[in-house]
Amino acid sequence: MKLVAKTFAGLEPVLSNELKELGATKVQQEKRAVSFEGDLNLLYKANYGLQTALRILKPIDQFKARHPQHIYKHVYNFNWSKYLKTYQTFAIDSTVHSPYFTHSKFVALKMKDAIVDQFRDKTGRRPSVDVKNPDLRLNIRINVDEVTIMLDSSGFSLHKRGYRASNRQAPINEALAAGLILTSGWQPSAPYVDFMCGSGTFLIEAACLATQTPPGFFRQNRYTFENWTDFDESLWKTVKAEAQANIKAPQNKITGFDIDPKMIQLSQQHLKITAFEKVIQLKHSALKDSKPVVKVEPETQQGTILINPPYGMRLKAKDLVTLYKSIGDTFKQNYKGYTAWVFSGNKNALKQLGLRTSKKLTFYNGAVECKFHRYDLY
Ligand SMILES: C[S@@+](CC[C@H](N)C(=O)[O-])C[C@H]1O[C@@H](n2cnc3c(N)ncnc32)[C@H](O)[C@@H]1O
Repeated sequence: MKLVAKTFAGLEPVLSNELKELGATKVQQEKRAVSFEGDLNLLYKANYGLQTALRILKPIDQFKARHPQHIYKHVYNFNWSKYLKTYQTFAIDSTVHSPYFTHSKFVALKMKDAIVDQFRDKTGRRPSVDVKNPDLRLNIRINVDEVTIMLDSSGFSLHKRGYRASNRQAPINEALAAGLILTSGWQPSAPYVDFMCGSGTFLIEAACLATQTPPGFFRQNRYTFENWTDFDESLWKTVKAEAQANIKAPQNKITGFDIDPKMIQLSQQHLKITAFEKVIQLKHSALKDSKPVVKVEPETQQGTILINPPYGMRLKAKDLVTLYKSIGDTFKQNYKGYTAWVFSGNKNALKQLGLRTSKKLTFYNGAVECKFHRYDLY
């Protein structure tokens, strides 16, 4: 099977590596995606075990079109009974980069009409649309006049791991957090600190990596491939059992601090859900008073600090300068021997850290350009 895994801009190389490790072949990086080949076993493994993928798509048809009627005609003539039953619900996502088609929603509507008309003409009945929780999720992508129709095997995005008690304070996306940790090169045998941990996303993703807990382990939502006509339940059970058999005890301490007691409480709730209470230590503390639980030799750079401070949307410019200066001071005074990584959407604020950057990377969190900088704290 040809397959496509979607991800964040900047994480394509990390996702490629993850896919190669899972056994994917013909792995190729694309824009915000990686294409690859594999069998049903790999499709299930990818959904359950990839840290940095958002969804896995399976192309089922490709054709050229320059007019909505071309799409309607082609989709109407495609054999949908192979994938969809009249009693099932479906939804269509669309992405369009084309001078011939400007409204992605209109393209999705044309495709929906063609599918419904085919069923009605053949059977007198039609499947219904459910945009929230459909049995079958389809995807239409148009690049100039090249149309690709894909089945979405994941349904709810794979970043929705299932451990969040609340989404109120806009935490970092779980797949992005995992990708940043993998990019940092942190070795789970070394200590790990986030002294602005918020709801604990980095800490939990680090704990998943350290314990080899698959990202799908806490998921309550079904994957849409479970509704596919070719769903192999016993293979799916084997894939999950094999991944779970690899879960192991962590080798080192993961520690989180935050100045806001409500955030520490929320993180604690997440630790309960994930049963990571013994893996992650939490403490209510301002960053300048935070201390590494594990001291490392200054020359080794073995411990990792990874934080995403506020960007400044809600902070006054003066407060932002003070906050970033204090992050730099804390790095220098409390964390000698660690490697620090800061993820921020405010590159001017990063200059306030007053430290030499040893690596500069760029990622996109949605449309926001974000910097991911490394500082070696000798
Ligand atoms: C952008 S949020 C981090 C979000 C987090 N990565 C998550 O996924 O939920 C920044 C966090 O820094 C914390 N913070 C702000 N000033 C701080 C300080 N001086 N010391 C410690 N934490 C601070 C805030 O309470 C907030 O939880």
